[in-house]
Amino acid sequence: MRGLFDWMNGGTSKGGATRAAANGSASAGKPAHANGGDVKLEYTSETITTATLAQMATTADPRFKQIMEAAVRHLHAFAREVNLTPAEWIKGIDFLTRTGQACTRSRQEVILLSDTLGLSTLINTMHDKTAMEEATHSSLLGPFFREDPPKYKAGEQISRVDASDEVVLWGKVTDVKGRALPNAVVSVWQTATDGRYDMQTGDDSMDCRGEFTTNAEGNYLIRSVRPNFYSIPMDGPVGEMITAQRRHGNRPAHIHFLISAAGHREMVTALYIADDPHIMDDVVFGAHGDLIAAIKKDQPGCPVPGVNSIKFNFALSAESAADKLSGRVGADPSKLGAAANPG
Ligand SMILES: [Fe+2]
Repeated sequence: MRGLFDWMNGGTSKGGATRAAANGSASAGKPAHANGGDVKLEYTSETITTATLAQMATTADPRFKQIMEAAVRHLHAFAREVNLTPAEWIKGIDFLTRTGQACTRSRQEVILLSDTLGLSTLINTMHDKTAMEEATHSSLLGPFFREDPPKYKAGEQISRVDASDEVVLWGKVTDVKGRALPNAVVSVWQTATDGRYDMQTGDDSMDCRGEFTTNAEGNYLIRSVRPNFYSIPMDGPVGEMITAQRRHGNRPAHIHFLISAAGHREMVTALYIADDPHIMDDVVFGAHGDLIAAIKKDQPGCPVPGVNSIKFNFALSAESAADKLSGRVGADPSKLGAAANPG
């Protein structure tokens, strides 16, 4: 590691050495406005990065050290690349402050920011590559997940308000070789037909979400309704960013799934409705790959005949020891930050 005193004295940086000499000594060339003093300390746009990394070198946790060192290197490089001005950074600080302040027990603006910047999908994509086996792709947990949804028996309807446009969800949960996984827990959540989640209706009751269990053959059966495409919340700082970027802010209609089975990697994913107008330009980059599904009428083998349905089989990877610690990109908003510890 480069020594602390190297950069204090200007190090090998040409600019740093010159400026340190100008301000810290009584030699010729000292600017008229310099006040003198014996301490030779001056940061340049390059040495400040080295100085910060040197001061953080005492970090005990090696993974935390690695993450923070990379974060500082890239953050400083970003500021240098765009020649960030003080006024612009204060604007950024104001944006980040308001993003945090917009969070409540039912709204998670920081997850929304991560989603709209593509970071959530990037992390999910990297996570998929670490699976022991190639499973169904993952997708965003999103900002509307809630823990402890209602538990339902196979074939029960999860829409409590308006089930007039019914869609049945059915298929199997298997391992990657197609072997059935009985007793897998299948949690599902989606918008109502009006494109809103229950968390956006102003009351605390749960609607259009529930937990099911696969039967002995690995089959799941859920009665639901046709989800609608929706705009992400545009009345906060993330919405301001999306508007300034002239993005439409819409997500294609989709249904979220969280599936767990003993001995298998937990699956966070979603199915995207094939004929949706925003299927190709999801504002949070969730719709892709094998997760696009069609609603079809009278599908052969559908346990509820004569209805619209989506048939989809989910394949789960075997679970590694690391999987138990990998977590999810997203969380129930009531479990994060001040909302989790009110007062
Ligand atoms: Fe969603």
